[in-house]
Amino acid sequence: MRKITIAIDGYSSTGKSTVAKHLAKSLGYVYVDTGAMYRAVTLHALRNDYFGEGKNDVKTLINDLPKIDLEFIFNKESEFSEMYLNGENVEKEIRTLEVSDYVSPVAEIQEVRIKLVEMQQKMGEEKGIVMDGRDIGTVVFPDAELKIFMTASVSARATRRYKELLDRGEEVSYEEVLENVQTRDFIDSNREFSPLRKADDAIELDNSDMGLQEQFERLHGYVLRLIDKQ
Ligand code: DC
Repeated sequence: MRKITIAIDGYSSTGKSTVAKHLAKSLGYVYVDTGAMYRAVTLHALRNDYFGEGKNDVKTLINDLPKIDLEFIFNKESEFSEMYLNGENVEKEIRTLEVSDYVSPVAEIQEVRIKLVEMQQKMGEEKGIVMDGRDIGTVVFPDAELKIFMTASVSARATRRYKELLDRGEEVSYEEVLENVQTRDFIDSNREFSPLRKADDAIELDNSDMGLQEQFERLHGYVLRLIDKQ
C-alpha cells in the first residue's frame, strides 16, 4: 500500500500528539512530535542558564546548536518514541511548565527553526509518517497528502493541560496554565518566522467536545479515503 505523509498542526494542548500517536500506530507509520524537539532545545538553554529571569542569551544558544544532538528512540514498553538530548532521555523534563514557559521564545529563533525543520524533512523522506507541530503543513511538508489543523476552545485546552500536569505531580494553578496557553498561542501565531497558521488545504477539526476515539475515527477515515483513491 502506498504510504502518505500526514501533517497535524494546531494550537498548544489541542491533543494533537495523543491522536497523532494512535493514528501512526494503527497505520504502522512513524510518529514525530516536533514540539518535543523545540522543548529539548529549550531544556538545553535552561540548563545552561541562557534563559530565565532577566536572561535571554540567544547568541550563545545559536552557537551551541551544532552541539545539540536530538534523537527519538523507540520505547518498547510504551510503544512510542521518546526524546533524547545528547544521549539522555529527557521525555519527562521537557514536559514541565518551566520548559513550556520558555519554549515559544526559543521556537521564534530562526536558526533553531532552520536546524529542526531540516531534521524533520529528513525523517519524512520515506513518507509513512505522522508529524505534529505548528508549521508541518505549511513549511516542513507543504506537499503532505493529508493536513489537519486542530483547534479547541482556550478553556478546554487549559483544562486538559492542567489535568495532565497535576497527574504528573506538578504543583500548578489553573490560572498559571491558562496564562501559559494564551501566551503561547499569541507568540506562536505572531512570530516572524513560520507562524502558526492553517494551511489553505488543511482540514480543520475543532475537538473541544470530542473524545479521543471520535477524533481518531475521523482522521483514520480521511486516511482510508485518501489511500483508496491512490
Ligand atoms: O506541541 P508543543 O506544545 O509541545 O510545542 C511546544 C512549543 O514548540 C510550542 O509552543 C511552539 C513550538 N513549536 C513550533 O514552533 N513549531 C513546531 N513545529 C512545533 C512546536
